[in-house]
Amino acid sequence: MTVPSSCALPAGVRAATALGIGGTVAAPNLPRNPFALVDLQARRVEYLRVSVTDRCNYRCSYCMPAQGVPVVPRDELLAFDEIARLVRQFVALGVRKVRLTGGEPLLRRDLVRLVDQVARVPGIDDLAMTTNGHLLEGLAAPLRAAGLQRLNVSLDTLDAGRFAAVTRQGDLATVLRGLDAADAAGFEHTKLNAVVLRGLNDGDLGALAAFGARRGYLVRFIEYMPIGVDDHWGPATYLPAAEMRERLATDGWTLTPDPAATHPGGGPARHWVGNGPAGERVALGFIAAVSEKFCRLCNRVRLSATGTLRECLSAHGTLSLRDRLRAGATDADLRAAILAALLGKVDAHRFDGNEPTHEAMSSIGG
Ligand code: 5AD
Ligand code: SF4
Repeated sequence: MTVPSSCALPAGVRAATALGIGGTVAAPNLPRNPFALVDLQARRVEYLRVSVTDRCNYRCSYCMPAQGVPVVPRDELLAFDEIARLVRQFVALGVRKVRLTGGEPLLRRDLVRLVDQVARVPGIDDLAMTTNGHLLEGLAAPLRAAGLQRLNVSLDTLDAGRFAAVTRQGDLATVLRGLDAADAAGFEHTKLNAVVLRGLNDGDLGALAAFGARRGYLVRFIEYMPIGVDDHWGPATYLPAAEMRERLATDGWTLTPDPAATHPGGGPARHWVGNGPAGERVALGFIAAVSEKFCRLCNRVRLSATGTLRECLSAHGTLSLRDRLRAGATDADLRAAILAALLGKVDAHRFDGNEPTHEAMSSIGG
């Protein structure tokens, strides 16, 4: 593949390049221009999610079918040096927060070494990971030592039977030991992600909230999004965030919105605070991607495990940064290509057309 020269780029990018933004930044270690990665809706992109593998050891029903999804050959995955080089370009363009995702990121061999490499990129304020927690028990301490700052762990229920049913291959006790190891390793501000499915784990919200309060984790309840390959999404399974809060109220939780904790750049969750039936003080997050579109505040882009830039969760992504760099692109070429792709970032996701994205979240990276 040939690498486009800057004159083949859209006018906006040429203008940005002329202003010294992106394309002409000579070295990744130069001071970052915090205004560089801005899309056509004037959303500043500061957050990069990097999928390090499309493989997963779980088969969550909202993400993929029981038999799993085809995985790409390993040589198509970005190598560690390639990931680190691309991260440096995004940081040079203003990204300050990086999250490693999957599939299940802990399945990537030698992941601790990658964390060490990424943690050394100057300019990252926050290096986090989203994991299902299955392999965390053995890896929490080395990850922390390598420079990982925060963890989000997926935990949809505290009932072992329902956990096994949702994840199909998961084991609750193993994940709970992983959380113990994370606490022991010194991870703080750990978040729990619970995708709430009507008729499945919608009775478990109170138990999850109480667990989070006890352990000091921020629990975030996530609306089931029409992403995935199984076509389970629909009125029978989808539960809007407002109804989640009604369920909690019925179970004796008093919650009020906490707009102060919900801010641009702080992620898509809307925060609520309150008390539980046993006097628990809680802060909870609700990620209502479907019922309360938050695209206005979107500050993120995604890099797939094969190096494709995905400007939006609901976009397929057309720019292969891997192909560019394997064809010999310079750092400046890569930054110019990233800026050009950003101009195509859609204003909002297309989920409300109820058109499911036929791709597992495991290949998108959450
Ligand atoms: N809807 C909402 N959240 C999902 N996740 C995976 N698939 C879906 C879906 N269809 C969540 C997982 C994990 C994160 C990476 O994405 O629970 O927390
Ligand atoms: Fe479950 Fe995440 Fe694995 Fe999908 S990628 S099956 S949501 S653990």
